[in-house]
Amino acid sequence: MASDLRAVGLLGGGVIGGGWAARFLLGGIDVRLYDPDPEAERKLGEMLENARRALTRLSAVALPREGSLTVVGTPADAAQGVQLVQESAPERLELKQTLLAEACAAAAPDVLIASSTSGLRPTALAAGMAHPGRFVVAHPFNPVYLLPLVELCGGERTAAGTVARAKAIYGSLGMAPLVVRKEIDGFVADRLLEALWREALWLVKDGVATVAEVDDAIRLAAGLRWSFMGTFLTYRIAGGEEGMRHFMAQFGPALKWPWTKLTDVPELTEELLDTIVAQSDEQAAGLGVRELEQLRDDCLVSVLQALRGRDIGAGAVLARHEQALSGAARARVLVAGDDLSQPLALHSAQVAPDWVDYNGHAHESRYLQVFGDASDALFAYIGIDAAYLATGSYFTVESHLSHLREALLDDRLAVTTQVLDCDARRLHVFHSLWREGDGDLLATAEQLLLHVDTVARRAAPASPAVLARVQRIAQAQASLPRSDRVGRAIGIPRG
Ligand SMILES: NC(=O)c1ccc[n+]([C@@H]2O[C@H](COP(=O)([O-])OP(=O)(O)OC[C@H]3O[C@@H](n4cnc5c(N)ncnc54)[C@H](O)[C@@H]3O)[C@@H](O)[C@H]2O)c1
Repeated sequence: MASDLRAVGLLGGGVIGGGWAARFLLGGIDVRLYDPDPEAERKLGEMLENARRALTRLSAVALPREGSLTVVGTPADAAQGVQLVQESAPERLELKQTLLAEACAAAAPDVLIASSTSGLRPTALAAGMAHPGRFVVAHPFNPVYLLPLVELCGGERTAAGTVARAKAIYGSLGMAPLVVRKEIDGFVADRLLEALWREALWLVKDGVATVAEVDDAIRLAAGLRWSFMGTFLTYRIAGGEEGMRHFMAQFGPALKWPWTKLTDVPELTEELLDTIVAQSDEQAAGLGVRELEQLRDDCLVSVLQALRGRDIGAGAVLARHEQALSGAARARVLVAGDDLSQPLALHSAQVAPDWVDYNGHAHESRYLQVFGDASDALFAYIGIDAAYLATGSYFTVESHLSHLREALLDDRLAVTTQVLDCDARRLHVFHSLWREGDGDLLATAEQLLLHVDTVARRAAPASPAVLARVQRIAQAQASLPRSDRVGRAIGIPRG
């Protein structure tokens, strides 16, 4: 099951292995990395830095505590004490076969073994494995820490439950597994990408377009549509009111015209390579790979956030993962031994780029959002879960926010919550918003919350169990000092 995943062994830590390391580590999973390149740890460190930057911007939901990275000296060592081995070595069949066989021989029997291959068939990759039943291709996309798709493809000897197990594991990491129905070279995505890539090379070779013009032809039109609807749904709309059948009737015959070069590949002569490299250098305008990665990641973050708002495509995957993460974070429920004598630390967050306004700090609405989320965490803590919400909940009836210092981009925030008073229907709380690191108090919010019967939509007493927990907290905190902001009215103090 997904929750079993605590540690992963990685074979290869380049572009893809490093991306996997980032997804696992930032998802709270420990990593054991084997890579013969003496520079691998440095490269991984830089990629991890970029991944941290991207993921903290992507989501307001706090990430799990980071996993630990251990660099090991052999493939067998990478397979020790882990639940999954992910191979991301160079795309050479024999090399991968040897590595996978070694890892398989060293791993405990229930360890899942996966390859990131872009197109080699799983049956061939597993040829040297003593236990091929546990092997599956898990083909990700770059950057692995941001893009959700992972194609899963079993081979002839892959056991029945292996793909399902892989689906649960990668799903728990916020990915969207796509199970390839038949074992084929290149799987689904790379079959499509190869076709486009071949055409792109022909267009440059034939002097029809430069590399930048080919990129414009994609990113200014079809690329925008693909990110949320893909190809079939987009073309259905292009068929107008009569939909797909009309689209096929109108554009189907054109498929037989000799527009494309089909599977012909331009010969990669020195001349063609020089042209592509020179045009590509011009296009990159002096930006190094890490800067280009940051630019790509920032754009992906913006697209993912926009799609999350529409609950579509990769945005829907992100929304589901955030719900799971915040559910796990909020799963903290009051238990017998909890120390309630101090303000409760139940919620944390981070200032994302889209929180920042023209004054260069978090927009005022974000403070209320953070305090609202802190109240939600308190509700979960006192036992208000999905079942309870069907009949009862607390509504906020009054808030008094005080802004004391600026919350700035990337600041990590923590909220502490003091219960000032309660009765059967009302809950009076005082939240304090702190900046992690320097411990500055940034803002406070005093709130009055009213318990409501969510069916009748009227104030009603909380359930005895919820009320008992609220009263326990209120009693434990009764003698805590109160901020001088409690009970303050807004006004300009005179003399
Ligand atoms: N780059 C992509 O966009 C992409 C996307 C999806 C899948 N893949 C697949 O991922 C795999 C890795 O590709 P990449 O782009 O990360 O390549 P890469 O060259 O960036 O990384 C390969 C890494 O493997 C290491 N390595 C070399 N020999 C090794 C060995 N014997 N054992 C362990 N590690 C070894 C290298 O030092 C290097 O760090 C390939 O199978 C590729 O097809 C690549």
